[in-house]
Parts: sequence; C-alpha cells; structure tokens
Amino acid sequence: MTLKSFGRLARIKEHPPSRPQEGNTQVARFFRRCRFLLVGILFFFACKSKDPVDPKPPDPNPPEFKVTDFATPEQCASCHPNHYQEWQSSMHAYAFVDPVFFAMHDRGQLEQFCTKCHSPIASRSGETPPFFDRNKLSPISKQGVSCDVCHTITKVNKIFNAQFEMSPGNTKFGSLDNPALNPFHQSQFNALFDRSEFCGACHEVENTLNTRIEETYTEWVQAAAAGMSFDCQDCHMPTYAGEAAVGGPQRDKVHRHYFVGVDVPLVDFPGADLQRQMSEELLKNSAEISVNAPASIKAGDTLQVAVKVMNTRTGHHLPSGTAAERQMWVAMEARDGNGNLLYQTGQLDANGDLMDNHSALNPNADRDLVVYRQKLFDANGNEVLFFFQAKTVENNLIPLFSFKTASYKIMIPVSTNGPINLDVKLRFRSLPPYFLRELNLGELVAKVPIVDMEEAKVLVGVIR
Ligand code: HEC
Ligand code: HEC
Ligand code: HEC
Ligand code: HEC
Ligand code: HEC
Repeated sequence: MTLKSFGRLARIKEHPPSRPQEGNTQVARFFRRCRFLLVGILFFFACKSKDPVDPKPPDPNPPEFKVTDFATPEQCASCHPNHYQEWQSSMHAYAFVDPVFFAMHDRGQLEQFCTKCHSPIASRSGETPPFFDRNKLSPISKQGVSCDVCHTITKVNKIFNAQFEMSPGNTKFGSLDNPALNPFHQSQFNALFDRSEFCGACHEVENTLNTRIEETYTEWVQAAAAGMSFDCQDCHMPTYAGEAAVGGPQRDKVHRHYFVGVDVPLVDFPGADLQRQMSEELLKNSAEISVNAPASIKAGDTLQVAVKVMNTRTGHHLPSGTAAERQMWVAMEARDGNGNLLYQTGQLDANGDLMDNHSALNPNADRDLVVYRQKLFDANGNEVLFFFQAKTVENNLIPLFSFKTASYKIMIPVSTNGPINLDVKLRFRSLPPYFLRELNLGELVAKVPIVDMEEAKVLVGVIR
C-alpha cells in the first residue's frame, strides 16, 4: 500500500498535469518544493487515507448531466405548438417559479430533496447545491417539470421521490405508435407514458424523516383495486383528435398538457386565467353532497342535520397530494323565515382564516367546523405546518367511492318563525391565509380562489 502511494507520487513528478492551467502548474511547483516533507507525511498517512495525493476529494454526488444536455421547451414549440402552449400554463411549468415553493424550500434547506421533483434538470445537473441562488439558475432549470424532463424518462425504479432514469439527447420517448419522422429528433415508444407509474414517480413523496406526506399514487392503487379503471393520464391529460405535430398525421388521440389540478399560479403567468377557470371546473366536478334534515321541526327542539360528502369522481383521495395545505370544508348557514341567522359554521375570520386552532383572531371559535385535510405532527405529537417537519400524519381525506358525514345539532328557539333555510356548501382552497402569512407571503392571500364545489339548499318547516 505504501509502495503504491509512492508510485503515484513518482508519477506526478515525472508527468506533471498536462493541462497548462495556472492552478495546476502551481500544484506541480508545490509538489517539487515540498516533496520530502510530503513523502514523510504520506508515509505516515498512507495506511489511513485511500488516496492521499488527490488535492481534493471527489464529489460524492457528481452531477449526472449538464443542463446543455437538455432541450428547452421553446425548441419544441414550433412543431408542437399546442403541447407547448398548454404546458406553459401548467403547474409543471410553475413548479420552479412558485413563490410558495421557494419560501418553503428556504425554510427547510433540505439540499436536493425538494428540487429533484420540482426541477429534475437543475438537481441532476448540479445547479441546486445547498443555499443555491435562484437568480443564477439556467433558464431551463427555472422551467421546472419541462418537456425534456418527462420525455427523456426511460424507466421508473421506485414509485416515489423521483427515482426515475433519464436519457437526455436526440431521442424523445412517448406513447405514440408509428411516430412520423422529423428532422429534429428520433422518437421511441415506451408504454410507461400511458401509465400511472410514470406520474407516481413524483406524485408520491416521502420526506427526510421517512414519513409519506403525499400519497396520490398509493391512493390511486387503492382506488384501482376498488374498481376504478382510469390512469392519471385519462383524467389529467384528456384527449382530442388532431395533429401531434405540425404537418404530422391526423390522430384520434392527442393529449392535452394543461395538467389541471386544484392549484393555480399566484404570480403573473402565461394562461393563468384559463388555468383558474379549468381548475374551478374540475373542482365543481369532483364531489357530491347530500343533506339529511327532517321536513319539519317543533320550535324549541334541536334540529339534526347530516351532510354527506362523497368522493365520486377523482382517481385518488379527495383532496390529495399536498393535502396538508389544502382546505376542503363544509360551510353551513341556517336562517329563520325572516332571514335572521340561527346558526353558522365554516365562516371565515377577518384575516380570511377558518376559525380552527390556526385562526389568530377567533381561535377554535367554530366548534363544529369540519375540514377535510391532512394534519402534520412532529415526533412529540405537536402539530407542525410544513411537511418536511412531519414525523406522523393524520388524514381526514375521503377515499374514492367513499363518503364522510358531518353532523350538526342546531337549537331552534321557541320564538322561531319558519321555515328554516339551510344553505350548505362544500368549499375548497389550495392555500390557507395563515400558511401564507407564516411564509411572509401575506400579499398572496387575496389571490387564492375559494371554490364552491357543491351547494345544497333545504327548507325545514317549523311547528309552533
Ligand atoms: C409531466 C410530464 C410531461 C411533460 C412536462 C410534458 N409531457 Fe408530453 N406527454 C406526457 C405523457 C405522459 C404523454 C403520453 C400520454 C398518454 O399516452 O397517456 C405525452 C405525450 C406527448 C406527445 C405525443 C402526442 C400526444 O399528445 O399524445 C407529444 C408530442 C408531447 N407529449 C410533447 C410534449 C411537449 C412539446 C412538451 C413541453 C411543451 C411536453 N410534452 C411536456 C408527459 C409530459
Ligand atoms: C421539427 C419538428 C419537431 C420538433 C422541433 C420537435 N418535434 Fe417532437 N415530434 C415531431 C413529429 C413530426 C412527431 C411525430 C408526430 C406523429 O407521428 O403524430 C414528433 C413526436 C414527438 C413525440 C412522440 C414520441 C413517441 O414515440 O411517442 C414526443 C414525446 C415529442 N415529439 C417530443 C418533443 C420534444 C420534447 C421536443 C422539444 C425538445 C420536440 N418534440 C421537438 C416533430 C418535432
Ligand atoms: C418530474 C416529476 C413529475 C412528474 C413525472 C409528474 N409530475 Fe405532476 N407535478 C409535479 C410537481 C413538482 C407539481 C407541483 C408544481 C407546483 O405547484 O409547484 C406537479 C403538479 C401536478 C398537477 C397539478 C396539481 C395541482 O394541485 O394543481 C397535476 C394535475 C399533475 N402534476 C399531474 C401529473 C400527471 C398526470 C403526471 C403523469 C403524466 C405527472 N403529473 C407527472 C411533478 C411531476
Ligand atoms: C378518475 C379521474 C382521475 C384520475 C384517474 C386521477 N385523478 Fe387526479 N384529480 C382528479 C380530480 C377530479 C381532482 C380534483 C379533486 C381532488 O383534489 O382530488 C384531482 C386532483 C389531483 C391533484 C391535486 C390534488 C390536491 O388536492 O392537491 C393531483 C396532484 C392529481 N390529481 C394527480 C393525479 C395523479 C398523479 C393520478 C394518478 C396516480 C391521478 N391524479 C389520477 C381526477 C383524477
Ligand atoms: C417526490 C417529489 C417531490 C418532492 C421531493 C417535493 N415535492 Fe413539492 N410537490 C410535488 C408534487 C407532485 C406536487 C403537487 C401535489 C399537489 O398539488 O397536490 C407538489 C407541490 C408542491 C407545492 C405546491 C402546492 C402547495 O403547497 O401549494 C409546494 C409549495 C411544494 N410542493 C413545495 C415543496 C418543498 C418545499 C419541498 C421540499 C421540502 C418539496 N415540495 C418536495 C412533488 C414533490
């Protein structure tokens, strides 16, 4: 071993680094001047250190690619204008622009953990070391989950935490059979592109404390086992008849690339209005509610109301994904025949927050409040806000083909004039105000839409 080390030192002496760079010449000069001292030190350390003469240890995670290995979305736009225009407004394009992402990432500082899904090109090209400067990223890194992220994926090794293989270059992978030839790239069929596993590679997240915090793929497996026969693509990439590329053959099924979900861009973004409109439509077609109340009640009695919330149309739980941030809740008002308010739940405080433990102004004032979401806890069982802090989770999400029932008891004063008007809504928003304020993003609160997913009105007669 010692001999081997001497051998290496000798080689360095005989063949100083050939690149004529100043740094390297200085290294050679240093070696020449101090060789006796170095020989002594090496002799001493040779048994301990594997490669004692290397001036710096090799990077334990060398970048897998260079950013220039990947093509930009703009390079695809001339031949795939629809795909480009749709993708441009999607949350995939927003993933590394999102101010909420960066505010959370700065809080967590988990090195590559967040970036490997939100911008795989940045992370695999070594552009996101700890404390990276987001202003110094290459344009393609800022484009998040872009065309070449997905269309260079060749294999999913494990269906969580971005464990997929990429092969950037001239070949684009997809699910077209008989793709027409084109002068820009080769095409290769891969059945993976038509399957949920492809999406699951990113839509299933385990944090660094080994807690599953986003489980859309696992929920989908459960839904599929319960008889749901669609893949993610069937719902989130609906098809239309047309050309997959300008001048290409007419096809029955070309896939939309809007990837509509429940989130919307909160900064100026191409197609933001359309994305909002489509997200609202999706949410209005996600659930059903039914309200169970008696036809009439005696004044002075307690009115019992049950609201059944059913997940009938998603391919996973409702809500899903980053469900700790999502709020889906039951809002109800009961008014007497004169329009006076008898009862209320699900209303907002002056900050716009629901009146649960997160309300700064009216904490826990809404005792009957029902919110369907995920709650996060640290190792001591204290509730935490950010999913990278979660050791355990508690879910109140509604699986597909399931329902949850919220029950209410409303005291009806003896003097009440009928009929009682019950107005029940199932409401949704992607980010609560307290969460944005905690990230110093309070100015975004007004930009988060509240969508009324369902509404039901019921009349209850009053017998006096
Ligand atoms: C999040 C991953 C993802 C991103 C980002 C993405 N695609 Fe796709 N793309 C797919 C999948 C998956 C399919 C196949 C869907 C199927 O067969 O069910 C597809 C299909 C296609 C097809 C084949 C025709 C069709 O519509 O079926 C083309 C062409 C295409 N994409 C181009 C692009 C371009 C150009 C961009 C960027 C502007 C892009 N894609 C961004 C996942 C992605
Ligand atoms: C010079 C025009 C041109 C450019 C530029 C171009 N494509 Fe294509 N692409 C085509 C044509 C033509 C097809 C075949 C369409 C068909 O058969 O319906 C195609 C097919 C595809 C497919 C389907 C492959 C398969 O086997 O399923 C994908 C994915 C794709 N392109 C992605 C991209 C991406 C990503 C870019 C940008 C990096 C890009 N293309 C740039 C012309 C182009
Ligand atoms: C490389 C990782 C990656 C892959 C692969 C991927 N996604 Fe995503 N997806 C993301 C990230 C990250 C976001 C969130 C971006 C943000 O809001 O900051 C996202 C957002 C979405 C959204 C919007 C969610 C919302 O709340 O509005 C939908 C829908 C979606 N993806 C569907 C899909 C489907 C369908 C596939 C498979 C065809 C897929 N994704 C593949 C990373 C990925
Ligand atoms: C049968 C249709 C259907 C299928 C299949 C489906 N989804 Fe969805 N997805 C929806 C609907 C409807 C919503 C809106 C309601 C909700 O949030 O659950 C949605 C919402 C989402 C959201 C936003 C969730 C949130 O609340 O933040 C993501 C992300 C998503 N889907 C990804 C996926 C992925 C990944 C798959 C496959 C593993 C998939 N979806 C399969 C219909 C579907
Ligand atoms: C394994 C892939 C993956 C990793 C790792 C990941 N994310 Fe995400 N992220 C996603 C997907 C997929 C979505 C979309 C889910 C949805 O909309 O329900 C998302 C959505 C988001 C959103 C938008 C939804 C929201 O909260 O409004 C933010 C912000 C976000 N992630 C921040 C982070 C941060 C910060 C980290 C690191 C601590 C991180 N993510 C790590 C895949 C990932």
